[in-house]
Amino acid sequence: MSMIKTKIWKALQAHYEVICGQHMRDMFAGDRERFNKFSLQHNNLLLDYSKNRINEETMSLLFQLVREADLENWIKRMFNGERINHTEKRAVLHTALRNRSDQPVMLDGQDVMPEVRAELKKIRELAEAVRQRKWRGFSGQPITDVINIGIGGSSLGPEMVTDALRPYGIHDMRFHFVSNVDENHIMDTLELLKPETSLFIISSKSFTTQDTMLNASTARRWFLKNVDDESAINKHFVAVSANTRAAVEFGIAEENVFKMWDWVGGRYSLWSAIGLPIAISIGMEHFEAMLDGAYEMDQHFKTQPFEKNIPVVLALLGIWYNNFFGAQTQAVLPYDQHLSRLPAYLQQADMESNGKLVDRQGATVDYETGPVIFGEIGIAAQHAFYQLIHQGSKLIPADFLASITDFHCIKEHHRVLMSNVFAQTEALMKGKSEEDAAAELQKQGLSEKEIKELLPYKVFPGNKPTNTIMFRTLDPHTMGMLIAMYEHKIFVQGIIWNINSFDQWGVELGKQLAVKIQSELVDEQPVTAHDSSTNGLINFYKEMRPKNS
Ligand code: F6P
Repeated sequence: MSMIKTKIWKALQAHYEVICGQHMRDMFAGDRERFNKFSLQHNNLLLDYSKNRINEETMSLLFQLVREADLENWIKRMFNGERINHTEKRAVLHTALRNRSDQPVMLDGQDVMPEVRAELKKIRELAEAVRQRKWRGFSGQPITDVINIGIGGSSLGPEMVTDALRPYGIHDMRFHFVSNVDENHIMDTLELLKPETSLFIISSKSFTTQDTMLNASTARRWFLKNVDDESAINKHFVAVSANTRAAVEFGIAEENVFKMWDWVGGRYSLWSAIGLPIAISIGMEHFEAMLDGAYEMDQHFKTQPFEKNIPVVLALLGIWYNNFFGAQTQAVLPYDQHLSRLPAYLQQADMESNGKLVDRQGATVDYETGPVIFGEIGIAAQHAFYQLIHQGSKLIPADFLASITDFHCIKEHHRVLMSNVFAQTEALMKGKSEEDAAAELQKQGLSEKEIKELLPYKVFPGNKPTNTIMFRTLDPHTMGMLIAMYEHKIFVQGIIWNINSFDQWGVELGKQLAVKIQSELVDEQPVTAHDSSTNGLINFYKEMRPKNS
């Protein structure tokens, strides 16, 4: 039976009819305990979800929904290594990568932990050797530049975290992330490098992703052109992959290939050797602190009752807006500059996981699934797209993320920053009534006529939902907690929507067509095999491109 035909779904729908006419302003006015009721704290992490269009009954119905979806059992199945990624017949065990206990994690009767620990040891050895200048290039010089060549999960996570944990990073080393097959990306990067001090990490779970393979070949060619010694490759190229054979065939020494496993999805892989750039940047102790943070969130997720479970609450609020209010999007608005890549990271994590139309039984769903995730540094976005969130016609639930301390202790900066976090979420919730707007205009000395004309534009409807996620410092431990929190939120939503969050068949069609079209771009013959738009575009390109390109 479709989820939307269940009693609990219908109860939520009926409840929505009651709530949608209520304003959060009145909810706050009527309940002084609202913040205490609707906020959760785990160590130094606070989730304030009181500025949502909910009351106690909403949450109680939503908790009932998640119980009926059998979440408790699904959590066990995931952590216990069942093949819950049924379309690829794979287990989903990224949590094993940060299992900091001495408990085994069994997969088909085998404990995966010895392999996980062996790989962590290998990461430590490389990271320390590079950081301590013991890893030397072919000319005896230490590494100054680490270049990650990968895309999607093999780039976004490491890039986001390396950036986020910059204050913990090694200062006299540069990190580059090349993902786009557009030659500008690799060429612009190579321009900054010297082969003798560069370390390339070719990151690809499959080691077949065309963009990555092409960038890696170009980097290798550039290296050999400058160095002219194949044996030097060993000191300058390492790989991370579940396909060791392909990495070796590419020319990377087997001892320089770091392992990945098919039970780790690309977008959930930064905890593995895919996180090498992070480990080199922040050092292994900090990398492990990040794993500790994620493990702590795993334990919280596994053991806390749903009512006190941060990822579960976040997931349910998302469902509330997505499926009952008809919200199409979810904004991610970090106020910490170091989290500037978080929205891009979460776009893949969330949209590649829950952008699905077919349920676990193979039927097309008759309800909305994953939202469009978008976002930007909050302060920058305030001066760009917040207008639409405040006064546009769409409902856009938003997550605000902020750290309580900064690293440079410049008080004015941090106070101004935080005042904006508090002001924006308050403004989005309260809005500005007609009376208040009119009083303000009167104070400015405007005439009655002018006030009448201007008033509609000066009113803010408010009632815009936000979560505020605040933490003491953006340190490695907190970073681990935050990422794991979002991973589990995505998992819970997938369970409620009855979809497989761990495959990504939707990325295949474009890849297949691109391979076919590539061969059509070799000569100058006009093409006719496609629809008129695609034919027109290809032929325009062929006509306009420089000869011999
Ligand atoms: O095409 C999408 C995808 O498969 C993502 O899921 C993945 O993170 C990315 O491409 C890169 O894949 P790989 O690590 O195998 O190169």
